[in-house]
Amino acid sequence: MKKEIVVSGIRSTGYLHLGNYFGAIQNYVKMQEDHDCYFFVADYHSLTTHPDPKDLKTNVYRVVAENIACGIDVNKAALYAQSDVPEIPELYLMLNMLAYKGELEKVPTFKDKVRQQPENVNAGLLTYPVLMAADILIHRAAKVPVGKDQEQHLEMARNFAQRFNKRYGELFPEPEVFRYNRDTVKIMSLDGEGKMSKSENVNATIFLSDDDATIRKKIMKAKTDAGPAEPNSEMPEYIKNLFVLMQMVSAPDVTATYTSAYNNCNIRYGDMKKQLAEDMAAFVAPIREKAAALQKDEVLIKKILRQGAEKARASAGKTISEARRLIGISYY
Ligand code: TYM
Repeated sequence: MKKEIVVSGIRSTGYLHLGNYFGAIQNYVKMQEDHDCYFFVADYHSLTTHPDPKDLKTNVYRVVAENIACGIDVNKAALYAQSDVPEIPELYLMLNMLAYKGELEKVPTFKDKVRQQPENVNAGLLTYPVLMAADILIHRAAKVPVGKDQEQHLEMARNFAQRFNKRYGELFPEPEVFRYNRDTVKIMSLDGEGKMSKSENVNATIFLSDDDATIRKKIMKAKTDAGPAEPNSEMPEYIKNLFVLMQMVSAPDVTATYTSAYNNCNIRYGDMKKQLAEDMAAFVAPIREKAAALQKDEVLIKKILRQGAEKARASAGKTISEARRLIGISYY
């Protein structure tokens, strides 16, 4: 039976963190076992925020190394750089003719960027969802493992797929968001202000490259409160987030003990954070060490990128020929 096709990407704009891990990469690792997977570093997307050219390669290598350290097996999944697949920008150009200025201007992530970088509201930011749709549709993917922050982009990808199919003929399936665990859709920042992110709230975000002492310090500073006043109270978001993290890295009986302490109003957050800090440090350490070693092995990273690009281009080439044919670009 033909396996379902899966696509997902991560921007090369900084160090990967627990949100990237639990929101995305953890799903990739499971999906690679029984899906046809394409995972990539979205280096073109990172250009929307004008990175320094001298940092690009290091950033791309780091994302590749971190993905592998988290468990991506390049013999099962294709792992490549977006810019190594020229069929993606070609499809992006085609899809741009089916995307409208008005709808792009309404996208919340675009509005956020306009607020964050008013001096650099470039067309790449506006058409960010179109490039993302091209990333996905180029392999005719059915499933896209992403966190909650990317859901609106997925909806747009479905719209562009539909419009293309209607105008030119059936080519693209409509890709759906996929994840195994609902709780990890949005890993909150430890200060309770928004989500963990590569560039904001860095002191309240745990990076996969953080050392044990940094992890302990960040977790001990996580926002808590005086504790619940009534048995079985609903958890505020920032407390729930600590429990979500604990569930991911601690033994089930540890989480159960603290959950029942919370429900009985005798939880001691200091103790809980100490336990979580130890378990988190133990969880991150092997990923950090493996990624650091891999990142230094340039020969291996280059080989991985080349192998990934070859596999991605084989699939992308078929889609782009079909797209050209349907649009009518076939002159000889
Ligand atoms: P990026 O690089 O911001 O994030 C990579 C993945 O991590 C998820 N994520 C989170 N999940 C839960 N909690 C968080 N705090 C958290 N922070 C990040 C994101 O949802 C994402 O799955 N536009 C994309 C990259 C991209 C892409 C694509 C993704 C480009 N083309 C095609 C899928 C398909 C982005 O900026 O992700």
